[in-house]
Amino acid sequence: MKILITEEQIRAKVSKMARTISEKYRNRELLVLIVLKGAFVFAADLLRKLDGVDVRCDFIKASSYGLSTESSGMVKIELIPSLEIGGKDVLIVDDILDTGLTISEIKKWVEEKGARSCEVCVFLDKPERRKVPFEADYVGFKIPNHFVVGYGMDCGEKHRHYPFVAVLE
Ligand code: IMP
Ligand code: MG
Repeated sequence: MKILITEEQIRAKVSKMARTISEKYRNRELLVLIVLKGAFVFAADLLRKLDGVDVRCDFIKASSYGLSTESSGMVKIELIPSLEIGGKDVLIVDDILDTGLTISEIKKWVEEKGARSCEVCVFLDKPERRKVPFEADYVGFKIPNHFVVGYGMDCGEKHRHYPFVAVLE
């Protein structure tokens, strides 16, 4: 296993992202939708650094159907947030933007529920892997096409608890 992003690099970047988001939403209400499971570690760090924002949070989960590990292109929302989305400013928080299929489907779902605005914040972005055009509003690190684990991200449900991001070798 090779460490790609250290705990210190993560801490600095997450603080910086939180400052940017706090400036944008200062004194406003913000509904943060955390994409399970992978985003839970990043979201916990990010949310605790938001300053002067009236935050609510909820969870959403999407899965691509089909048997392959590669996204099949068919995405289903399988955990629906319980908080009202209509009329809210929503920030979707996810671990990694890969093909873009999941997050574009989640964003479409949020918009269909009548959100007033919807932005997307991802910890990692693998732009080379995109299958549908998608740009996140806030990106921690752009990385090359490696399969990474740690800081919430898994391989077969393992490695999520590492405080750093690593490439499996
Ligand atoms: P996509 O953008 O629809 O392909 O799906 C992105 C989701 O796939 C992420 O939220 C992760 O759960 C998972 N994923 C993509 N790349 C990786 C990786 O390198 N490590 C761990 N999970 C990944
Ligand atoms: Mg995920």
